[in-house]
Amino acid sequence: MAVQYLPGKEPHSRENRLIFKNIDRVGYDPSIECYLKDGGYEQMKAALKMEKSAIINEVKASGLRGRGGAGFPTGVKWGFIPPTNTKPVYLICNADESEPGTFKDRYILHQDPHQLIEGMAIACFAVNAKLAYIYIREEFPHAAKIVEKAIAEAKANGFLGKNILGTGFDCEIYVHRGAGAYICGEETGLIESLEGKRPYPRIKPPYFPAALGL
Ligand SMILES: Cc1cc2nc3c(=O)[nH]c(=O)nc-3n(C[C@H](O)[C@H](O)[C@H](O)COP(=O)(O)O)c2cc1C
Repeated sequence: MAVQYLPGKEPHSRENRLIFKNIDRVGYDPSIECYLKDGGYEQMKAALKMEKSAIINEVKASGLRGRGGAGFPTGVKWGFIPPTNTKPVYLICNADESEPGTFKDRYILHQDPHQLIEGMAIACFAVNAKLAYIYIREEFPHAAKIVEKAIAEAKANGFLGKNILGTGFDCEIYVHRGAGAYICGEETGLIESLEGKRPYPRIKPPYFPAALGL
């Protein structure tokens, strides 16, 4: 069945929406019931049965790129963490969206938060992270509430927390509210801010955040 969009919000006829496929869809809402009805968390169930290297290879092959501006290949970034790594790994979702006139994240936070949570849980599993943060800019109080509610729903349904879906995988996601500074969107400044410090960006190289982060 063709997906229907709200009147006046139809995507351009030649647009092939992937990440934004649920944005402005008729009858779509941010609840977990709606997401599950639409096949939500099935990708996560499948991923938890896969080898981690196979997940990373699939993400590489998909051509998925980051939304941070550089369009950096997502699977390549996930692959920066060596499987032999023994240090704790943290996943951070940059939802600072401070660039004036940028609207790449807020639609997802407002309208499709479970897609974000499912993606983060899969990413955590693939890179051996048990703890993840969503850094949301101060000016998005509504988005923070929606995402916090979605995290609670995901936990109540066994998609986050301890021993997820009986697989032994533990994963927690926390929302962290920024204080409202453009520079907090820069990844190393964001990490400093998350650590409770002033968001001075770190000098790189030598250490990129995938190797030395939070
Ligand atoms: C001054 C400055 C501000 C930035 N602000 C943001 C931002 O608000 N949101 C964002 O996603 N990336 C921002 N970035 C890019 C991040 O540093 C980083 O490259 C990005 O979070 C990586 O995203 P990805 O993992 O989706 O590729 C900013 C970079 C600079 C230099």
